[in-house]
Amino acid sequence: MSRQSLENSRGLRLLEPGPVVLVTSMYRSHPNVMTAAWVTPLGFDPAMISIAIHPGRLTHEFISKSETFGLSIPTLDLSKAIHHCGVASGNDVDKFEVAGLTPEDPEEIDAPKIQECIAHIECGVIQRVTAADHDLFIAQILNASADDDYFRDSWLAEQELPLVSHIAGNFYAGMTRGYGVTLDEDDDE
Ligand SMILES: Cc1cc2nc3c(=O)[nH]c(=O)nc-3n(C[C@H](O)[C@H](O)[C@H](O)COP(=O)(O)O)c2cc1C
Repeated sequence: MSRQSLENSRGLRLLEPGPVVLVTSMYRSHPNVMTAAWVTPLGFDPAMISIAIHPGRLTHEFISKSETFGLSIPTLDLSKAIHHCGVASGNDVDKFEVAGLTPEDPEEIDAPKIQECIAHIECGVIQRVTAADHDLFIAQILNASADDDYFRDSWLAEQELPLVSHIAGNFYAGMTRGYGVTLDEDDDE
């Protein structure tokens, strides 16, 4: 599988279907990874996203201190690892080891990419907003890349997308193929 580097604004398209992501963070040479579903694109120029993280997570502490984090986008075959990283804390275990995930050198930040994932986004925190019981980290995309087999300008929707959505608890869903929609004049009548 070869990987292409993306314009930062194209990195937003990696998040467009709302997939579950693996959030990587690093503080004092200690890497961590947690699962997150609450990630949202915010704007193209500069390319920005937000992620809601509960203050009790080790990830919250690491991102607050380092002001950077990575998003690695996993596939359905990683569902056990996804769930493991969403129920165990880096305070208790090395989740890379227990979930069988391989850290890979990042481009712009300290937090690693996850080698088994098909796309990666590196982010720098611009602002932290206390919203409700989670804090919202507003961040700029610093680097984005994706595997050619799955993404070329956008996710390759003619084939089944192996991206993962979270339903609730330990229930997840895969995505089927995408469908193009055309509006023609007849539709207005
Ligand atoms: C599918 C799934 C999605 C999750 N999404 C979020 C999220 O968006 N924000 C959050 O703060 N926690 C979320 N969690 C919970 C964290 O992943 C979980 O508390 C994790 O153990 C925190 O790890 P840490 O202490 O190593 O940072 C999610 C968990 C699962 C299973």
